Amino acid sequence: SRVLLLNGPNLNLLGGRQPDIYGKETLDDIVSRLRTQAVKAQWELKDFQSNHEGDLIDAVQAARLDGTRAIIVNPAAYSHTSVALLDALNAYEGMVIEVHLSNIHKREAFRHHSYVSQRADGIIAGLGSQGYIAALDAVIARFAA
Ligand code: DQA
Repeated sequence: SRVLLLNGPNLNLLGGRQPDIYGKETLDDIVSRLRTQAVKAQWELKDFQSNHEGDLIDAVQAARLDGTRAIIVNPAAYSHTSVALLDALNAYEGMVIEVHLSNIHKREAFRHHSYVSQRADGIIAGLGSQGYIAALDAVIARFAA
């Protein structure tokens, strides 16, 4: 089975970007840890990061057609702005888990609302990179049943 790990704008800067908020690990660190976790459970992890809204939408549309069973997505700032990403996820029929490194509800008011949450089957926020691990665990458990 395949799971897509989708990361939005500025997450390529992880490790160096506001490490007090987002942690010291790089996105590569996180992806390689998740890949190991996936392989152990005989899952294939596909990962994609983009700073471009349309490219993220294209990745969701591709997942819709290629049998990807789940999407773990940190839409970053597009969480708060993108009806287009929500629409793409609404057209996708697999499991969707939304992850935020920081607790968006503890931060500025403009981060409290996420369009993607309207579609997500589960949401994890505030646990740092551990949130991605928990999300992948949940995906693996859901389809093991
Ligand atoms: C974020 C929270 C968003 O508000 C912010 O724009 C991000 C990262 C997080 O992982 O905590 O870029 O999604």
